[in-house]
Amino acid sequence: MQNVKITKMTSDDVNDVYDIEQLIHPEHHWSKNSFYNELANNLAVYYSVKNQDDKLVAYIGFWKIIEEAHITALAVHPDYRNMQLAQLLLIKSIDDCYKDMIKFITLEVRESNIPAINLYSKFLFESVGVRKNYYQDNGENAIIMFTQNIWYDKFKNNFNKIKNEITKVKYSYD
Ligand SMILES: CC(C)(COP(=O)(O)OP(=O)(O)OC[C@H]1O[C@@H](n2cnc3c(N)ncnc32)[C@H](O)[C@@H]1OP(=O)(O)O)[C@@H](O)C(=O)NCCC(=O)NCCS
Repeated sequence: MQNVKITKMTSDDVNDVYDIEQLIHPEHHWSKNSFYNELANNLAVYYSVKNQDDKLVAYIGFWKIIEEAHITALAVHPDYRNMQLAQLLLIKSIDDCYKDMIKFITLEVRESNIPAINLYSKFLFESVGVRKNYYQDNGENAIIMFTQNIWYDKFKNNFNKIKNEITKVKYSYD
């Protein structure tokens, strides 16, 4: 079983993050500067997952705006998929949201991105609308997903259940 560590992303991580971006989205990835700008943004929080060899294999980013969080990025290196790493990153981020008294979490996702839509649905995000032709590279629609109030029992109970089901990796926080 892999041991992984979840750490705050720093500017030293940007080259590795960019490598994954290029691999996953050859046509439409963020620039390195976008990540440097995000890391300098006080509203933004970015976490990465590093494996036991200290290789960066996954990351998430979100903005905290008053009582709402907006997930801006989430990716797992293709060789490290289906190991619950995306769930781990969401768990860390949602725990942060509780600490900051955030009530709702939202994001946009490509309507063709079934793995991501399934992932967010597992955490009880719901589709609440569509942004037509949102993605500039191919004009694809974005599905807008929102949680219910994360302090409601239904969300919390499901969240705790998912936490208890993380068994594929051993993890720690830095
Ligand atoms: C979407 C993504 C982040 C999932 O990462 P992952 O670490 O493999 O996901 P996990 O192992 O934590 O899986 C969590 C859930 O996601 C869903 N899921 C993940 N991969 C899936 C797939 N290939 N097909 C269908 N559902 C999938 C499932 O609901 C899964 O839960 P389950 O195992 O109980 O069925 C990953 O595929 C990825 O990086 N994709 C490219 C970038 C991207 O689309 N990011 C999201 C932008 S909004």
